[in-house]
Amino acid sequence: MSSNQALTRRQALAAAAALAPAALAAAQAPAPTPSAAPAGIKPSPFEIKPLPFDPAKLPGFSERLLKSHWENNYSGAVRALNAVRDRLVALRADKDTPSFLYGDLKREELIRRGSMVLHELYFANLGGSGRPGGALAEALKSSFGSVEAWEDDFRKTAASLYGGSGWTVLAWNQHTRELHNYWAGDHSQSAVMGTPIFVLDLYEHAYHIDFGAAAARYVDAFFVNAHWDEVQRRLEAARKG
Ligand SMILES: [Fe+2]
Repeated sequence: MSSNQALTRRQALAAAAALAPAALAAAQAPAPTPSAAPAGIKPSPFEIKPLPFDPAKLPGFSERLLKSHWENNYSGAVRALNAVRDRLVALRADKDTPSFLYGDLKREELIRRGSMVLHELYFANLGGSGRPGGALAEALKSSFGSVEAWEDDFRKTAASLYGGSGWTVLAWNQHTRELHNYWAGDHSQSAVMGTPIFVLDLYEHAYHIDFGAAAARYVDAFFVNAHWDEVQRRLEAARKG
């Protein structure tokens, strides 16, 4: 070791010793908590919703897969969103919060919120049967030419995500006033002014337990269990928006 290196090491040790009391005091200081939030802001406001169907009774899906998806992915997103949101509330009370730290948490908030909302829409558009009818079928014909043409576009969009991750979404666009399918590579991507009315989860966690890499079989099972009454209800609500 050279004398310069030894000097540097001595200087470093001295600096560490000088900082130790401050570091210790900082570690022992109470961490910011949601209780520091302004009055009226509720900590951890998002609640995990139960599955809206009996997971043992969806043809083509195992109870194990549906429960795993609900517990590990959807419920995990809700818990994470609450944790991120509580940290943001606490950080806003600290005037010294670095903007990069706040930005990291805002990114996480965007992703977790998207995951929570999309998973709730996903589970709620399962548990049905049959084919699109009534006003929904008419709207699909108006926007795509036929129900079959819509389904072809939806399935092709979904297939582009096989083996990866993302969502395929049928949306009512509030700006163009028509239905369209969009591709989303993760929970935070969406179509501008598009209100989701029918969503398909294409993360591998949504199907791998039952279907392995055979994602097309998963999509077939998804369509068998699609809840078209719920999709039509969403369309009617979106059109009023
Ligand atoms: Fe998922």
